[in-house]
Amino acid sequence: MPAILEIDGLTKSFGALVAVNQVSFAVEKGEILGIAGPNGSGKSTLFNLISRIPFGSDSGRVVFEGRRIERASDNQIARSGVIRTFQREAVFASLSCIDNILVAVEQTLGVRGKEAERLADEASDLVGFPKNFHNMPAVTMPVFYQKQLMLATAVAQKPKLLLLDEPASSLVENEVEWVRDTIIKLNQTGITILLIEHVLPLLMAVSRRLLVMEQGSVIALGNPAEVTREKQVIEAYLGQPV
Ligand SMILES: Nc1ncnc2c1ncn2[C@@H]1O[C@H](COP(=O)(O)OP(=O)(O)O)[C@@H](O)[C@H]1O
Ligand SMILES: [Mg+2]
Repeated sequence: MPAILEIDGLTKSFGALVAVNQVSFAVEKGEILGIAGPNGSGKSTLFNLISRIPFGSDSGRVVFEGRRIERASDNQIARSGVIRTFQREAVFASLSCIDNILVAVEQTLGVRGKEAERLADEASDLVGFPKNFHNMPAVTMPVFYQKQLMLATAVAQKPKLLLLDEPASSLVENEVEWVRDTIIKLNQTGITILLIEHVLPLLMAVSRRLLVMEQGSVIALGNPAEVTREKQVIEAYLGQPV
């Protein structure tokens, strides 16, 4: 499989802390690549650097579909098909659910009106977000529905590569099953997925390959079952709630 995303030497420091340190790897077109690692190992920062939301890297290259994007604007990156979600539910609280989706669709794709509504409906159906919630204020939604809304918003922007940052955090078991099934469904529609997750069984269930970070660096990458047997990976997780 050809690479859809190639990352080379990506680095970001906050003062003396190197949050992402010379990270290099490639994502194959069509795969689900899981990302694990203890808290603070740089996983979310890696997504920031790829999407440039809210900031880019100090150095290194990000190549998406053969084009350098590490100095492109966040909007250009999104428009080219790289869409991220956030670890915490990130919705515009003052807007209705449907307006959350429509604002993102207009900002990223420049599409409004009927076509934007069609994309919103299609994305809602795909992730299972109930359309009868569309006109409710996003802020009144329970966490699970805010997560669904965040995912519907991402999907409506027509991602080729979806960066999911702990989509299962703070969800209960049957909701985690929704996350698993939805990730698989989205992947089957042709979306390549990078998945950061703390829920290891979920990560193991859906990932074709698993990348493990520790203190800003990639310490393992490969077959999930093999990677989780590596000594360095087990040690990185010691004392960590996984
Ligand atoms: N905006 C920021 N300013 C300063 N330090 C940050 C910032 N974002 C992340 N960090 C630090 O970078 C490290 C990696 O954080 P993060 O990428 O959120 O880790 P993870 O997602 O793996 O838990 C942590 O030590 C964190 O405190
Ligand atoms: Mg994080």
